[in-house]
Amino acid sequence: MPETIPKGLTRLAFGGDYNPEQWPESVWHEDVRLMREAGVTMVSVGIFSWALLEPSPGEYAFGWLDRLLDLLHAHGIRADLGTPTVAPPAWFYRAQPEALPVAADGTRYEFGSRGAICHSNADYREAAAAITTRLATRYADHPALAMWHVHNEYGVPVSACYCESCAAHFRRWLRATYETVDAVNEAWGTAFWGQRYADFNQINPPRVTPTVGNPAQALDYKRFADATLRENFVAERDILHRLSPGVPVTTNFMTALSQCDSIDYWAWGSEVDLVTNDHYLITDGRRTHVNLAMAADLTRSVAGGAPWLLLEHSTSGINWQPRNPAKAPGQMARNSLAHVARGSEGALFFQWRQSRRGAEKFHSAMLPHGGTDTRVWREVVELGASVDSLSEIRGTRTVADAAVLWDWQSWWAQNLQWRPSEDHDARERADAFYEALYDRHLTVDFAHPEADLSAYPLVVVPALYLMTQAAGRNLTEYVENGGTLVVSYFSGIVDEHDAVHDGAYPGPLRDVLGLTVEEFSPLLPGDRVRIAGPEGSELTGDVWTEFVVPRGADTVWTFADGLAAGRPAITRHRLGEGSAWYVATRLASDGLDAVLGWAADDARIAPRAELPRDVEAVRRTGESGTYLFVINHTSSDAKVPLEAHGTELLTGDRAAGRLAVPAGAVRVVRLDG
Ligand code: GAL
Repeated sequence: MPETIPKGLTRLAFGGDYNPEQWPESVWHEDVRLMREAGVTMVSVGIFSWALLEPSPGEYAFGWLDRLLDLLHAHGIRADLGTPTVAPPAWFYRAQPEALPVAADGTRYEFGSRGAICHSNADYREAAAAITTRLATRYADHPALAMWHVHNEYGVPVSACYCESCAAHFRRWLRATYETVDAVNEAWGTAFWGQRYADFNQINPPRVTPTVGNPAQALDYKRFADATLRENFVAERDILHRLSPGVPVTTNFMTALSQCDSIDYWAWGSEVDLVTNDHYLITDGRRTHVNLAMAADLTRSVAGGAPWLLLEHSTSGINWQPRNPAKAPGQMARNSLAHVARGSEGALFFQWRQSRRGAEKFHSAMLPHGGTDTRVWREVVELGASVDSLSEIRGTRTVADAAVLWDWQSWWAQNLQWRPSEDHDARERADAFYEALYDRHLTVDFAHPEADLSAYPLVVVPALYLMTQAAGRNLTEYVENGGTLVVSYFSGIVDEHDAVHDGAYPGPLRDVLGLTVEEFSPLLPGDRVRIAGPEGSELTGDVWTEFVVPRGADTVWTFADGLAAGRPAITRHRLGEGSAWYVATRLASDGLDAVLGWAADDARIAPRAELPRDVEAVRRTGESGTYLFVINHTSSDAKVPLEAHGTELLTGDRAAGRLAVPAGAVRVVRLDG
């Protein structure tokens, strides 16, 4: 079989974070024996090992890592080797206390956890480059080396630092971005509240202010903090590329986690050699498999549609939510294979052996505290065999039916203070529209607002508060050329500096939607409005209403009560070859489904009525063939019609007609032809 990235892997990746430094070396031999039993092909090592690799400044202790990599290699296990720069040692902070980051309120974080880093700090950057250089020099040619894993999850736990060196760095960034201080004044609208700056040196990070600070300054600080993290990543990556050519470099993303809202992954996707992602089930009462599918789709989209790799998820419960349920029997395999269906080239976990000490001892692992006589271990071994049987899918790409527009910068801007309603949440709308598309069994790509959309019959814009004129033109052309667009309220309101677009709302979307919005009128908690539509249909909205004036669009549903009574609630504008829908209130799932039903008809997307709710069907296709993944998240057996005969890869059975997928099971059919 040909190799793909990670280097030297001829199967899908299966394994996890391996932190053997927590155990005596005698345990390592048991580890590799059990890894083989479980079908582990790759582990991530050394991510937090700086203090062990460099116990005091300039004194290195690589012996243990040499022995570990040799041992892995001897057992045919590939290594994803970390640069440990997310966890500088205690001695480093004693010498460089200013490398500890500072919060917006001036609190300096302490050593004693992880990720306490000011990424503008020159001493930190120098030390990170030094340890990365040492590792790259020593291990570039190690036969176990499959990939470099830089740092860990940039953006958490500290997304931005507000110290003096960041202030200086921010001023440099502003100079490079705007050239003159007047351009900053203009972009930030500093004429308001007398915030005008006469010189770059007068500008600080947006620290704590008596009342709301300048929103454009806050938005630029997000961009600056993101760019600063990327500078650090790129610096390490370039060292690794130079000293370890041919070995791919990654850093693990967290594309869909609300907790990680500080990284513009559109900008990061092209900086890594392989997009990798971490995903954990958020148990907040919503359907976790839908959030998982969204995370996987978003990650694939950040990778430009190319295969990516799930670098961390959990075998069972995690330990950092208020309540952390175990996974139900079979759920781990469904989770892993759902990521694979949506483009991951394998499935890895945090972590291999469950820790006995430290902050994460109650986090599940592949090898639990209870050892091998446990349900989790048996399921891990079974999953290892399943993943192995899917190796031929490597390099194939997931096929999408529709696109959802997403932009981290718009999300940042939307989340700034003093908006029409704090109940409107851009991420909530993205989740809700995604879920409605999922329930129509449509596979979704996410797209940047300025990306080429011509491949998609249907494009959904859940809430894109910040939108450039270029994005507006992009959507107008998309519809004129035959596309179907669905746009939710409070989209297209401000430009990249959080300045309201000239003229009526929604600036760059007025033409494509054929309407203007005169005023927003958000609802109070608990208030709902009825909206009346075709053939006596009625829906309800909450959180938001507004006063829409059609200017070419047809009104399809009308507000029946509330301040907006009698005005349009849902409109359709036929433009060129396509149509553009607008939704002026927050719809629940039935309302979203109704609108998406109409839009799907406009887009000529046939309903997938034969698939039961919560039975997922996703395709990967490529040179080796077309593969249909069917994932049954329900407690009933399902039968899914196949459009062609094929071979089911997990069981080896021939499949034709209707494919039986037992309750909770996964089936993967290579379709003939
Ligand atoms: C990830 C992190 C891992 C581990 C895991 C626990 O965010 O990268 O090191 O902490 O969470 O869920």
